[in-house]
Amino acid sequence: MNSMVTIDRHILEEERSVPGATGAFSDLLYNIALAGKIIHREVNRAGLVNLLGKTGDINVQGETVAKLDDYANDVLVNTLSQGGRVCVIGSEECENVIHPATVGPDAKYVVHFDPLDGSSNIDANVSIGTIFSISERVTPLNTTPTEADVLQPGTRMIGAGYIVYGSSTIMVYTTKKGTVNGFTLDPSVGEFLRSHQNIRTPERGKILSCNVGHAQYWEPAVERFIRSVQTEDKQKGTPYTLRYIGSLVADVHRNLLYGGIFLYPPNIRGSLHRGKLRLLYEANPLAMVVENAGGLASTGEGRVLDLQPTALHQRTPLYIGSKQDVLEIERLIRDQSPEERG
Ligand code: AHG
Ligand code: MN
Ligand code: MN
Repeated sequence: MNSMVTIDRHILEEERSVPGATGAFSDLLYNIALAGKIIHREVNRAGLVNLLGKTGDINVQGETVAKLDDYANDVLVNTLSQGGRVCVIGSEECENVIHPATVGPDAKYVVHFDPLDGSSNIDANVSIGTIFSISERVTPLNTTPTEADVLQPGTRMIGAGYIVYGSSTIMVYTTKKGTVNGFTLDPSVGEFLRSHQNIRTPERGKILSCNVGHAQYWEPAVERFIRSVQTEDKQKGTPYTLRYIGSLVADVHRNLLYGGIFLYPPNIRGSLHRGKLRLLYEANPLAMVVENAGGLASTGEGRVLDLQPTALHQRTPLYIGSKQDVLEIERLIRDQSPEERG
């Protein structure tokens, strides 16, 4: 790696370009990067220290909790509580919002996170990650945060990103400023170094990422889309290649760099649902990153970031990635007859 720009320096440079910045937002990003390093360390030695496996608990989503889910959740809650900048936290692992132990008089940030995404992959050494979003509270400082603070649409995020614990550990984040940058952890010096500057995602991709095991439950538009990318075509070129890790964060990161589309459609047959992925701490932050890199994120009917959340653990259908691919699936969904939509 040639870059000698640490994430701290990058955050500081960005802060200097924002008139009136107090450093509070930078502080928050440092703390998230610190949490990422601590989780990285534990993920890398998990097999050695008996952290692999399940705790025996079932979380709010009805899923079994991996020990590392719990660990990552605690690390994030603790680091975000430092400095008293955060007034309320939403986590995939906690049924209710968390009120940090220390809340300073200027605690204006609302943070949501998925502490470990793809945790079913942990025990097999497959890439997993942390996803986070940052918004500003809408209620006055020094009051108890309310639903209005917790349930804000994605368009109100001021920062979002993720950390993938993969063949290397990388933190990618974006802010209102609009650029997306990636920082790879150099474990020998313990620093995230800028490795991917101003990431732009291809307009059209070559990768299709979805769990085809669920195809029988999907609406016809999704089948039509999949068939269309399996066929050689003048516009799209050779057929797409299928890549599905089963860790949303790693699938989206790969597609961000290479171009492609990740889809998790609603089930309109069988076990009916409106999508599996959670809006506030999975879909929204990834949508902000992908859109700031030139891609799109859709519910199939509109922009993910425009959705008004109604619950902390709300789920949404998700079509995310290269712009042309996402526009195409939106068009196919729109063109269905009402009967086909189920
Ligand atoms: P989590 O590990 O945080 O519960 O999230 C799991 C999610 C997501 O990462 C992944 O894309 C999806 O579940 C995979 O679901 P399927 O097994 O249904 O494909
Ligand atoms: Mn997840
Ligand atoms: Mn998770």
